[in-house]
Amino acid sequence: ICIWIENSRRKLSMEKSNGQRVILFPLPLQGCINPMLQLAMILHSRGFSITVIHTRFNPPKPSSHPLFTFLQIPDGLSEAETRTHDVTLLLTRLNRSCKSPFRDCLTKLLQSETAEGKQRISCLIHDAQWIFTQSLAHSLNLPRLVLNTYKVSFFHGHFVLPHLRRQRLPPLQGPITNSEQDDPVEEFPPLRKKDLSQILDEETELLDSYSDKILETTKTSSGLIFVSSCEELDQDSLSQARQDFKVPIYAIGPSHNYFPGSSSSLFTPDSTCIQWLDKQEDRSVIYVSFGSLANMSRSELIEIAWGLSNSDQPFLLVVRVGSVKDAEWIETIPEELMERIKEKGKIVKWAPQQEVLKHRAVGGFLTHNGWNSTVESVCEGVPMICLPFVWDQLLNARFVSDVWMVGIHLEGRIERNVIERAVRRLLLEPEGEVIRGRMKLLMEKVRRSVKQNGSAYRSLEQLVDRLSSF
Ligand code: UDX
Repeated sequence: ICIWIENSRRKLSMEKSNGQRVILFPLPLQGCINPMLQLAMILHSRGFSITVIHTRFNPPKPSSHPLFTFLQIPDGLSEAETRTHDVTLLLTRLNRSCKSPFRDCLTKLLQSETAEGKQRISCLIHDAQWIFTQSLAHSLNLPRLVLNTYKVSFFHGHFVLPHLRRQRLPPLQGPITNSEQDDPVEEFPPLRKKDLSQILDEETELLDSYSDKILETTKTSSGLIFVSSCEELDQDSLSQARQDFKVPIYAIGPSHNYFPGSSSSLFTPDSTCIQWLDKQEDRSVIYVSFGSLANMSRSELIEIAWGLSNSDQPFLLVVRVGSVKDAEWIETIPEELMERIKEKGKIVKWAPQQEVLKHRAVGGFLTHNGWNSTVESVCEGVPMICLPFVWDQLLNARFVSDVWMVGIHLEGRIERNVIERAVRRLLLEPEGEVIRGRMKLLMEKVRRSVKQNGSAYRSLEQLVDRLSSF
């Protein structure tokens, strides 16, 4: 039966084929693989055949996408190198070691196409953070589009960071004073100076030249795709980005709305949390997750767990294995606290997040504001408590709390009293109701964008036309 289903699927897919194949090259990080595979599903539904070239490290699961072709290339990373928490270092290494295997793989693919007269390879779509593709695609005469998973305003704005960092160094300015903490950063709104200092603290010299290369790779591409953005979330930055990058920009997101529940998880989601949610009252649960990269200290985990427990609201807490420094998982939570957690909470290693956010019992999301998590929350109308850790998360959190006003910002205070108070304000107090009302309006606007004639839908049509024209 399985073989029969598989053959029928393939036959159906061949019948719909437009004779063109697109090569996708995602970055091997959870926040980047999901959006690329969502794009793959969208393009496949429009008749394109899909080949995904991926690294050995963090490979996507071919069994979840039987209609795509997956080709693995060696990435040269040792086990120890894959465990680093320094993402810039990881990406720099990957860019260095994947260049030649990727070139060999792509060249072979193009040769086999010519030799066998198979479907035409129309273009390469790669993550913006692969910075070696420009000359390769050029030499192979292959059109190349760049996919970006950040919010448009962050991607567009973050090229100013090297300049801001130089400016901040003494004798030009020096560190910000206490009274300046909440001042706006004119060059990068709506960031505040304290956010900027957190972003720049995370930054290394390595990142500055990496950013320059990303900018060059983007500006020389045939187009830039944002899979998790749309006019409704990014209007001003989109028009600015169009002017500055001078390439066509397609903001086709939130793309997970085209194929709900189709997350390409690198970790195994613990679905027992859905049965647990089924037993909770409507909008009573606070869902807590900090994505696939953020790390916290043992004491931060304990403060968060106390805060949630003291709020007396049910909570679902995701603690990724390895995300607590110097600990395996949650063994450092004191027994007394574990006993209390058992009464009202559930802790899992990874959750089916999109399903969780859709659940009627979830009333709020304590999040690191990774862009995927932020958009997924908006799409389900779940108001947020913002606890950004690094990089774009600080800007996303400002949009949530200061611009759209659909969340409460913790201002970096990982303290039990502050967390308890924020949960209660959001779930139990009139202020929470007002925030929820604003979130509902934003959700409706964003959901409309992927419906026929919505802004994201139109942008997708333009992208499909462009790819068909290659
Ligand atoms: C990273 C960066 O941290 C983020 O700032 C950037 O915007 C994208 O790349 P990550 O930290 O993993 O991503 O966060 P996020 O963008 O929110 O992506 C996480 C994805 O994992 C989401 O699609 C979310 O649904 C999924 N997820 C997360 C789960 O499926 N289960 C979980 O338990 C947690």
